[in-house]
Amino acid sequence: MHTQRILIAGCGDVGSALGLELIEAGHFVQGLRRTINQLPAGIHGIAADLTDPQSLRELPPCDLLVYCTAASQHDEAGYRAAYVDGLSNLLQALPAPPRHLIFTSSSGVYHQADGRWVDEASATEPDRFSGRIMLEAEQLALNSGIPATVVRFSGIYGPGRNHLLNQVRSGIAAPAEPPHYGNRIHRDDCAGVLAHLIARVLEERPLEPLYLASDDAPAPLHEVMEWLAAELGITIGERRSIRRGGSKRCRNTRLKASGYRFRYPDYKAGYRAILDHL
Ligand SMILES: NC(=O)c1ccc[n+]([C@@H]2O[C@H](COP(=O)([O-])OP(=O)(O)OC[C@H]3O[C@@H](n4cnc5c(N)ncnc54)[C@H](OP(=O)(O)O)[C@@H]3O)[C@@H](O)[C@H]2O)c1
Repeated sequence: MHTQRILIAGCGDVGSALGLELIEAGHFVQGLRRTINQLPAGIHGIAADLTDPQSLRELPPCDLLVYCTAASQHDEAGYRAAYVDGLSNLLQALPAPPRHLIFTSSSGVYHQADGRWVDEASATEPDRFSGRIMLEAEQLALNSGIPATVVRFSGIYGPGRNHLLNQVRSGIAAPAEPPHYGNRIHRDDCAGVLAHLIARVLEERPLEPLYLASDDAPAPLHEVMEWLAAELGITIGERRSIRRGGSKRCRNTRLKASGYRFRYPDYKAGYRAILDHL
């Protein structure tokens, strides 16, 4: 396989983990972000702001583009800037179209909130601006004229993402009734899924336009938190409703049918690895 020039735009937690895997596989990886001193060694930094077209002049060509920027401002303007305007600016600035574009989206595009299963064929009628803007960005990627794949991640957890753990540590868990289903994917599986799809592109095997990337075990939040509490030896003293998107269960059948094997198939495997390293 020839070395590919892979540009990761928004090279943060997931992008950096992906970049390191791609370097390991022999590729030349460039990571675009505003603060490139945060990039791991081996990833070639491009210091640029996706919302500022001036800073995107003189971008080098790439064979594959992964767009995995996250909004740093959590309002409508911030989402539009990061996902729609940023992608549009980048596509206009690239000196030549890449062979393939992967856009990382979110399971936040689903509106379903009654615990039902959702997959790539499910309706998406988000009531929040975040979901609506993400859908708009997905369409921008899919209609860009470049062969494109959208990957919808569910809730990403992993090293350094300690919000849920910290709540459990302070004795808080979600109420058991009504059960609120949450969906997760470990950061290393996010990188693994993207690397897997890139490998398929390079093998010239067909890809679907859309994959929902979430582990095998959607579970009610209270169950996850109670399990963590037991692992940490903590007694739950308070039940507090924790809003984490609509209650739904993400089906990963399509992703697994493409040949992906999860490193952390469920939250127990993923959190055990995190707890072991604390
Ligand atoms: N968190 C979740 O649970 C979740 C769930 C579903 C989907 N996702 C999606 O998964 C993807 C990866 O997320 P992540 O956790 O890796 O995010 P992250 O660690 O926050 O990384 C995002 C990167 O984007 C860069 N960035 C933001 N604005 C930029 C701009 N204007 N110009 C250039 N770079 C910019 C940031 O770097 P600088 O600040 O240095 O520019 C940062 O390195 C994102 O698309 C996110 O929306 C996340």
